Amino acid sequence: MESFMFENKTVLTGVKPTGKPHLGNYLGAIKPAIELGKEALSQGGKHYMFIADYHAINAEKNPAVLNEMTKEIACIYLACGLDPKKSYFYRQSDIPEIPEITTILYAYTPKGFMNKAHAYKAAVDKNREAGKPDDDGINMGLYTYPTLMAADILAYDSDIVPVGKDQVQHVEIARDIAGAINAHYGKELLKLPTYRFDENVAVVAGIDGRKMSKSYGNVIPLFEDDKAIKKAIFSIKTDSRPMEEPKNPDEILVYEIYKSIATPEQLQEMGDGLRQGKLGYGYIKNMLLDAVVNEIKDAREKYNYYMAHFNEVEEMLLEGAEKARPVAKATLKRLKDAVFGR
Ligand code: ADP
Ligand code: TRP
Repeated sequence: MESFMFENKTVLTGVKPTGKPHLGNYLGAIKPAIELGKEALSQGGKHYMFIADYHAINAEKNPAVLNEMTKEIACIYLACGLDPKKSYFYRQSDIPEIPEITTILYAYTPKGFMNKAHAYKAAVDKNREAGKPDDDGINMGLYTYPTLMAADILAYDSDIVPVGKDQVQHVEIARDIAGAINAHYGKELLKLPTYRFDENVAVVAGIDGRKMSKSYGNVIPLFEDDKAIKKAIFSIKTDSRPMEEPKNPDEILVYEIYKSIATPEQLQEMGDGLRQGKLGYGYIKNMLLDAVVNEIKDAREKYNYYMAHFNEVEEMLLEGAEKARPVAKATLKRLKDAVFGR
């Protein structure tokens, strides 16, 4: 049963361009999203993958930076195996129906939903901690972004939205807005989406032992050269115990990170070596480096190619938008017909 869960289903993922991804982003978000898309397509489902650049402008105001981040994220998804011929791959800002749909959804979005949305609440909490007024630096884009996200989802009749834990609430808001509209007009104008949260995707630890995150500056970079990756891996925290001392692998950070990328055999080898006092920290760091480089080297080559030939990517994105727009247009028409009694 499980193997046909995507039959005739539309799976949609949005990704915010936020700068060069790290190993945690790759293993926790990019790779699973592409694999899930492939699974959906292989079962006769549809797969939408878009770059949420309207969401990005709430935080980033420099056009050159925005442009570069959007380019990077597009090239990374392509390099990691997204097939733009099979998936719908586009930029949000190339679909003008999205802001139009958003405007209609606003009329059905209780303001209280936005007050409770976690991205807004987190920004308020941060202000309070800093002793600033609640709404300091918070723009309407950030405040209302769950409604824009609802339009992203509802425009394409999405059934399944794979998300990280922090986005679950936003998909629920989309579902509630759609439910309210359907109830008001007494027909299924909008498909009710469900989120999919994969419990098995592990959180990858960073080089200081906390969650790997751009904001902690503890990342292992991915699409940089071997030297940069090596520098990060060789900065992973270790202790001063000698190699010969038998160690519990679960207390060793290099081993913890290796878990997220190694095969079971590789992991066994490192685990045994540590337990038996046969492998030193330099050696296990090289094992991790090999695994990381091996995992991404093909993708990195493709990434470099696409970045150097972005005109090809631009074309793919525009073709993707052309393919996706009629679906969003149909949703907008359904809504307008109902709302304005046409
Ligand atoms: P960062 O914390 O570096 O700013 P983001 O919050 O932009 O990362 O996360 C982008 C995506 O990558 C999200 O889907 C998130 O769940 C995933 N992700 C981020 N850090 C990790 C990590 N350390 N391990 C697994 N997944 C992660
Ligand atoms: N808000 C999501 C994030 O910050 C990105 C996003 C925008 C999204 N629109 C979406 C995700 C629609 C899934 C579906 O990561």
